Amino acid sequence: MLVSGSGTNLQALIDGADDRAGYEISVVISDRPGVRALDRARDVGIPTAVVAWTGDRRTFTHAVCEAAVGADAAALVLAGFMRILGAEALRRFPDRILNIHPSLLPAFPGSTPVADTLAHGVRVTGVTVHLIDERVDHGPIVSQEAIAIDAADTEFTLHQRLHEVEHRLYPEAVSALARGRLKVEGRRVVWS
Ligand code: GRF
Repeated sequence: MLVSGSGTNLQALIDGADDRAGYEISVVISDRPGVRALDRARDVGIPTAVVAWTGDRRTFTHAVCEAAVGADAAALVLAGFMRILGAEALRRFPDRILNIHPSLLPAFPGSTPVADTLAHGVRVTGVTVHLIDERVDHGPIVSQEAIAIDAADTEFTLHQRLHEVEHRLYPEAVSALARGRLKVEGRRVVWS
């Protein structure tokens, strides 16, 4: 798992990791020390690593890949990870890097999707789980779920409801990846 912040999705994945789910979290890697996500991992005995931003995407990506491979990780699962990985990660984990994003991609990519969604005045938004490719918030879509925006929603209330959806969708998607149920056909991901 790659994280940078609070790690509520990490928590949902920790809570969902049983024999039926078929995945195990081998290491939690953060680009920042002292974040809540690292505490969540330590609380349940999952190894952690901090790979600080090196100022250069290539060397940073290499360090992240080495930390993941060193922990025997078969896939990279990003949740609130605020760095963009370079080509080496795509090469070493082909079709095995997942990300979750709180908008219905391709609408509102980037680092402030919830604020952007509200500012645009759309009535429906949602959550996207997708595979990573060489472009930001762009890879093949694994799952999506829509929710309605209330007139009274603030960024906080809307993100809270999106989080509830995320905490259900992400363990399902990670389980499907771990169980070999996701087949990538061009831009489409076929579930079996
Ligand atoms: C989530 O909304 C995720 O979709 C986005 O960043 C947020 C991370 O939240 N990429 P958390 O750290 O899992 O609580």
